[in-house]
Amino acid sequence: MTELVEKLYETSDLTDGELKALIETDDREAGELLRSRADEVRQLHYGKKVFLRGLIEVSSYCKNDCLYCGIRRSNKDADRYRLTREQIMLCAENGYGLGFRTFVMQGGEDGTFTDDLLCGVIRELKEKYPDCAVTLSLGERSYESYRRLREAGADRYLLRHEAASPELYSRLHPDQMSLENRKKCLFELKELGYQVGAGFMVGAPFQTTEHIIADLRFLQELSPQMIGIGPFVPHHSTPFAKEKGGTLELTLRLLGILRLMFPRVLLPATTALGTISPTGREQGLKTGCNVVMPNLSPVDVRKKYDLYDNKICTGEEAAECRHCLQRRIEAAGYEVAAERGDCAGF
Ligand code: 5AD
Ligand code: FES
Repeated sequence: MTELVEKLYETSDLTDGELKALIETDDREAGELLRSRADEVRQLHYGKKVFLRGLIEVSSYCKNDCLYCGIRRSNKDADRYRLTREQIMLCAENGYGLGFRTFVMQGGEDGTFTDDLLCGVIRELKEKYPDCAVTLSLGERSYESYRRLREAGADRYLLRHEAASPELYSRLHPDQMSLENRKKCLFELKELGYQVGAGFMVGAPFQTTEHIIADLRFLQELSPQMIGIGPFVPHHSTPFAKEKGGTLELTLRLLGILRLMFPRVLLPATTALGTISPTGREQGLKTGCNVVMPNLSPVDVRKKYDLYDNKICTGEEAAECRHCLQRRIEAAGYEVAAERGDCAGF
């Protein structure tokens, strides 16, 4: 099994059969080698740097109904909120003072976030903080909308493809949503010059190794600048409440594989990974991750951006995620980079 790791390290690719073997193996030596090769490759391109992204969760209203997600439209128990433009600017001001040089505006698909409103916020952010990158994560929108947001100054866009297998995609989403449109959005975002992030959940209900391989192949086709993966974590008020969550082991395995397949990609150690294990994000950093996204949302709304159960960084004690994470990053042997943190070679 270790020879598969070495082949992946040298060529950044494996056959489907080899990928399946590597994803499914319980060989400890191969797992350890994968971790150290992934760390070597991340250090070759990014050194010990970890980029911070200030996450501003702008709205928990969503018109979509993804079966796994706690803020899905059908969840009548969800306590919804949306931030005003002034609140978003305050989060950014606070974040800038804390050293963030990327702001990520993430939210459900909320129709009140019109192009006009968003363009105004983006312009104001770029005017006040010209040294910062603005990332959007607001779901599927029209080409014209993406074009206007880009023109207003947005630099990056995160839109997980969620599942590249049409069969799995349709089991995780309502009929109104389509993988085809998801992919169309991603390619349009690329064409418009955004740095693009795609990704998927690890251990989603019904997901097999074959589905994961389809995800890896789609990522090769898209060639995004960022790849976000994290374990599926069940949410109690969704149809998947009783399903099993994704594991730490498989998530780390895939992070290592992604680092070797996409040597220069930006790879976050996600909040979901930190949620299923107290040392999840640190282990992610040691397995090829080079980004973390601490929460900058106002503390009083954090619990309401409730994608999955037991989400970390939502309590009063987490008002200063920034410092908590800096300590953790340094303890893991890495350093916080006070810069925009663009993809190497973009
Ligand atoms: N568990 C883990 N991740 C989730 N997401 C949504 N619901 C869950 C869940 N239950 C992820 C999706 C989405 C991102 C914003 O959060 O992949 O793209
Ligand atoms: Fe948010 Fe530690 S990173 S509280």
